[in-house]
Amino acid sequence: METKNVKVQVAPGGPFLVHGNITIVDKDGKETVKEGMTALCRCGASNNKPFCDGAHKALSFDK
Ligand code: FES
Repeated sequence: METKNVKVQVAPGGPFLVHGNITIVDKDGKETVKEGMTALCRCGASNNKPFCDGAHKALSFDK
């Protein structure tokens, strides 16, 4: 998959918002293709890493 024109935005108190088509490769080499917008956990609390599952809302994560 081509990954040009990908933009990564920091959501205040929340995830990285990745705008564009990306391929995520996990520690075992498994690839997941995401299209459009993907929210990646930045707070460390997600139970679905590397994706954001909204767990940051229960934290006082304000970075
Ligand atoms: S940023 Fe949303 S769960 Fe971590």
